[in-house]
Amino acid sequence: MPSPTRTPFVGGNWKMNTDRAGAVELATGVAEQLKGLDGVEAAVFVPFPYLLPVGEALAGSGVKLGAQDVSDQPNGAFTGEVSTDMLKDCGVTVVLAGHSERRHVIGECDELVNQKVKASLKAGLEVILCVGEKLEEREAGETDVVNERQIKAGLTGVSAQDMARVTIAYEPVWAIGTGKTATPDDAQSAHAAIRALLIELYDEGVANATRIQYGGSMKPGNAADLVAQRDIDGGLIGGASLKAADFAQIVQAAAGDPAHA
Ligand code: PGA
Repeated sequence: MPSPTRTPFVGGNWKMNTDRAGAVELATGVAEQLKGLDGVEAAVFVPFPYLLPVGEALAGSGVKLGAQDVSDQPNGAFTGEVSTDMLKDCGVTVVLAGHSERRHVIGECDELVNQKVKASLKAGLEVILCVGEKLEEREAGETDVVNERQIKAGLTGVSAQDMARVTIAYEPVWAIGTGKTATPDDAQSAHAAIRALLIELYDEGVANATRIQYGGSMKPGNAADLVAQRDIDGGLIGGASLKAADFAQIVQAAAGDPAHA
């Protein structure tokens, strides 16, 4: 069944890559390739030091400027942290919260992710809440349990109204940066379980309106099959977002997806 209420959304997560000139070149290429694109939203998640020049390169393109992380605190003695106000001052409109590398490499817990989600929404930003299971959890059949735990915790205290600015990214940890992708069927089944959980936590209206992106080794060659799934509303792209042409191809695949037309 088509899902006319959800505009597909594709994010490019550059992680700790690029330099200043390379970031501007990549953003300029993305803006050029996506000129006039309709029926899809796109964002790039840029290293903090390059937000300003990348924002300039994206000006007028419709591609959103995103940050890969955010502090849950408004200001003060938090060495190394970057606040919602600082990000907004640089033109950021959307942030990632709870990316698996921040959860599993840096050590962020569900509670901190929830504080970041709430601080960002309070500041008027959009948030992509990232969730997903590790390999051993998948092998133990715990995919849906892990997603449920991370979503329930991540969305604690988030109102139905604020859900209009929340996107969920389902990113199985074993698929991130590994070249291994969830099959479209496996991804769809996780996405459907997430949408069912959103009905339980909110209602059908919120569940049907919330975009759920897939992430984990998504690339031009597999994007169309993934986004063709009923509950997959775009993607969060790491490696393949570092080439403007590849990223643009994925965005175009999402824009042309008949399941969301
Ligand atoms: P990948 O990363 O596309 O390189 O697997 C996805 C992500 O971490 O968001």
